[in-house]
Amino acid sequence: MISGASSGIGAATARGLAGAGYEVVLLARREDRLKQVCEEIRQAGGIAWYQVLDVTDGAAVRAFADSVERCDVLVNNAGGAVGADPVLSADAADWRAMYEVNVIGPLQLTQALAPKMRHTDDAVIVVIGSTAGAVVYEGGGGYTAAKHGEHALAGTLRLELCGEPVRVIEIQPGMVATAEFSLNRFGGDQARADAVYAGVPEPLTAEDVADTVVWTVTRPRHVNVDLLVLRPRAQAAQHKVHRVSQE
Ligand SMILES: NC(=O)c1ccc[n+]([C@@H]2O[C@H](COP(=O)([O-])OP(=O)(O)OC[C@H]3O[C@@H](n4cnc5c(N)ncnc54)[C@H](OP(=O)(O)O)[C@@H]3O)[C@@H](O)[C@H]2O)c1
Repeated sequence: MISGASSGIGAATARGLAGAGYEVVLLARREDRLKQVCEEIRQAGGIAWYQVLDVTDGAAVRAFADSVERCDVLVNNAGGAVGADPVLSADAADWRAMYEVNVIGPLQLTQALAPKMRHTDDAVIVVIGSTAGAVVYEGGGGYTAAKHGEHALAGTLRLELCGEPVRVIEIQPGMVATAEFSLNRFGGDQARADAVYAGVPEPLTAEDVADTVVWTVTRPRHVNVDLLVLRPRAQAAQHKVHRVSQE
């Protein structure tokens, strides 16, 4: 089950896991997009279905979990950033929205689906965090706070489930050029979104991140990749990004 599977990393992960032989369940809010990704997977020979779901809606998440028989792998990917305002002028509503989708969403989905993972001796919970969960940067206060929160969720869960047949894996990507992440962050301002990746030779793609998810999930059951950080070669650290002139 993959949350946020209607676009970007989630859609690529659904394709990747389906390609690896998993029956995939795509979760997100936009039905048209879910339908389209499902159709692509089926045409490629995979087994896929979808459920419209807002991960911040606790009742809806519980109802969905009640409707399924089992879950082997849960990928908590739904998330994102809202705005890039400095702390002193940030809107608290943006901070709440980011906490809701990046922390409460995975919390609710994991709580609801955990009982459906009891049938297997190799359940896997993946959390798509971010390098923003390990460092802070100017204008990123709300997003980095939320992603630090998501990192705490993954780490705590791994400790609490130690001894159970469950692996808890966190992936922290750096700069990934997906079509919607920065566009949503900047309220649909395409020029601002494009500026994030301007001149960066080969930022990560959604497929690069999906590959790491598939690789970590398909390790033998005794191998828990706790935390995997991946960045494009051009990004040595959050602030250290190589850009080439576009003239
Ligand atoms: N792009 C990057 O540079 C980058 C870097 C590091 C980490 N990440 C993380 O990777 C994850 C995916 O990002 P992306 O780049 O693939 O962005 P994206 O294309 O905007 O994907 C976000 C996905 O989350 C879904 N979503 C948002 N709110 C939701 C909600 N309340 N309930 C259910 N689904 C919801 C969206 O679908 P609907 O709108 O249809 O619901 C969409 O499918 C996020 O957690 C992000 O923080 C991204």
